[in-house]
Amino acid sequence: MTVPFLEPFRIKVVEPIKMTTKAERVAILKSAHNNLFKVPAEDVFIDLLTDSGTNAMSDRQWSAMMLGDESYAGAKSFLKFEKAVADILGFPHVLPTHQGRAAEGMLFGTLVKPGQYVPNNRHFDTTQANIAEIGAYPVDLVVPEAEDSAIDLPFKGNMDLERLEAFINEVGAENIPMGMITITNNSAAGQPVSMGNIRQTGEIYHKYGIPFFIDACRFAENAWFIKQRDQDYAKKSIHEIVREMFSYADGCTMSAKKDAIVNIGGFIGLRDEELKLRIAQKLIIHEGFITYGGLAGRDLEAVAQGLYEGIDPDYLNYRESHTRYLGEVLEAAGMAVYKPTGGHAVYVDAGVTLPHIPPSQFPGAALANALYIEGGVRTVEIGSLMFGHDDPDTGEPVYAPNELLRFAIPRRVYTRSHLDYVGKVAKELMKNTDSIRGLKITWQPELLRHFLAELEWV
Ligand code: F0G
Repeated sequence: MTVPFLEPFRIKVVEPIKMTTKAERVAILKSAHNNLFKVPAEDVFIDLLTDSGTNAMSDRQWSAMMLGDESYAGAKSFLKFEKAVADILGFPHVLPTHQGRAAEGMLFGTLVKPGQYVPNNRHFDTTQANIAEIGAYPVDLVVPEAEDSAIDLPFKGNMDLERLEAFINEVGAENIPMGMITITNNSAAGQPVSMGNIRQTGEIYHKYGIPFFIDACRFAENAWFIKQRDQDYAKKSIHEIVREMFSYADGCTMSAKKDAIVNIGGFIGLRDEELKLRIAQKLIIHEGFITYGGLAGRDLEAVAQGLYEGIDPDYLNYRESHTRYLGEVLEAAGMAVYKPTGGHAVYVDAGVTLPHIPPSQFPGAALANALYIEGGVRTVEIGSLMFGHDDPDTGEPVYAPNELLRFAIPRRVYTRSHLDYVGKVAKELMKNTDSIRGLKITWQPELLRHFLAELEWV
């Protein structure tokens, strides 16, 4: 096993966590209707549900928060935030939002009409749902290698450029109000997208007059992977790589809860002032005035500082090797780890790990629940519970391309011994996988069912 790059920080504030007994966890999960989203956080020992908003902020971020200017309009904190976004991402215009999905809602709500299509390498659950809610169609066009969890390639998050162009010709550019790419590709195991692929995706969209937006949540991790895996960028700084990635796009939606290392926040980055003013009308109704957009001034301060910390190469080196280490630990425990490991999470192919459970019985969710009972570790299914649905025409079930279980790592929160503990729990569980049963849904809402669904062991 490789030794991870040392944590480039020391701990100043601690938050106690407490272990429950196995019998308690069985009861807790039962009263949560077998859905880990409904389990109280204090009953979780190691929480790898998400890397979103679960980050530990730095002393500099906390002290910046004291400088928060809470003015309704034109706050100093907004100007600092605007300057940081312009400096790091290169977008001259920015609209703050309370988190990423609000940025998506405002942008799609302005540009997308019912019956239209929005392509992406692969949409995440909220972008998909925000588009579907309008009555438009989210379309996933990731490279086919993304679906092979065993093949080790550098940029499995890429857009399939041939399919993208064929798709535009098939439905007509006039029916595609905007196109996207997600970096890193969260629904495709957190895999990065290459610089060439971002550039060519932009070129294709622009050839057909389609505005190009980047879903930028984990842009710094994507830039780190480009630096590591593409010789041409080995000598460039992360800042330079980030600026080049965004130079190909007309704008971005960002959840600052990821690579800006904060607990809440998001934004829309834009080049076009006219579009900014169109989106602003919606923003003022739903989020707040254009210089705070659903955030406090202190939150804007924390994002402005966090954006710089997120592109620090020592931090990114630690981040990638810490995640890779968890991948090695889980593989040693006998789980089918998706290759290569992503930046923010390790994804386990639950379909391969639990071959006796069919997609209709959600092997990812079954494995997640078993891990919770075994050791109080919370993970999240990214498979057919999240992305499966019934075909609207035939009523037949449609399953996700892979039944993945994601171990997402909050930034700067857990130490290597926490990861070793997760490995120990996984190893214990893997001794007797036959006893893990599948799950069936007893109740589900119409959209984003995984958050609220109730399930029963088969
Ligand atoms: N886009 C991607 C690729 C995401 O991963 C997320 C959130 C969003 C958009 C929405 O951002 O949560 O701030 O509204 N992903 C989290 C996760 C929730 O667990 O992966 P948000």
